Amino acid sequence: MRIRIFAVIGVGVLLAAGCGHPQRHARPSGRHTAPQSAGRPERSPSASPTARRTPPPPRRIDCERVKCAALTFDDGPGPYTARLLDTLKRTRTRATFFLLGQNVREHPHLVRRMALEGHELGNHTWSHPDLTGRSAAEVRSQIRRTQRAIEDASGVRPALVRPPYGSTDDRVGKAVGMPLILWSVDTLDWRYRDRARDIRIGVRKPKRGGIVLYHDTHRPSVESIPAVIAGLRERGFTLVTVTELFGGRDLEPGESYTERSEAPEPTEPPAEVVATRSPAKR
Ligand code: NI
Repeated sequence: MRIRIFAVIGVGVLLAAGCGHPQRHARPSGRHTAPQSAGRPERSPSASPTARRTPPPPRRIDCERVKCAALTFDDGPGPYTARLLDTLKRTRTRATFFLLGQNVREHPHLVRRMALEGHELGNHTWSHPDLTGRSAAEVRSQIRRTQRAIEDASGVRPALVRPPYGSTDDRVGKAVGMPLILWSVDTLDWRYRDRARDIRIGVRKPKRGGIVLYHDTHRPSVESIPAVIAGLRERGFTLVTVTELFGGRDLEPGESYTERSEAPEPTEPPAEVVATRSPAKR
């Protein structure tokens, strides 16, 4: 059933297109239906929302009914991340960051801020290797070090991984041991670094349930986001984190997901079948 609802990428799939070179991302985790137990901060919540010291839980948004899409930002944090966070805050938008451990170490305050402002934090490895070329021990080390860095910075333990370059296979999935989040829209922002193009792709391409890939390590990408958000809202989208997109359903460790697929329509029997049914069965 889960396989019908989500787009599950089979083993051995390799999406080479995505992330460009030395990049980094991050993203948050947790379930929709319950507070993020794994990411729950140690301190008790403040009485004042404005003085909130603990990350807010994922919102309960029914992406079965609402037209949702998830903006994701890879390879940070970097020099433009604070500006992006300002934009997201001003527009009341939550996003997902797939973070590189080595950048988390450089910018722990930005990671903390992401969590406190409701964004999801995900693991994009420590140094952005192609995991399919690394031993299982190296894969585990890349993930574990980054988990630790993100948790140390934010108090949140990511539940999702985005493999660099979207490159994964059965063996990598097993070594990672967490759901692998890919994307349905690759803006190729890292390649073109063209704000107008970033806006055009980001506004036009997403479909319901889509996951859009940007990199907050590039200035044009970050500069495009105010117009992307406005354009997607104009198209009727509600922008959510990846965990919110999947609505609290369990994602399988080691499986890859590119989007939230349309759920099958509730099955209404064809009219002629209804007509021939006995009243007792109606
Ligand atoms: Ni990347």
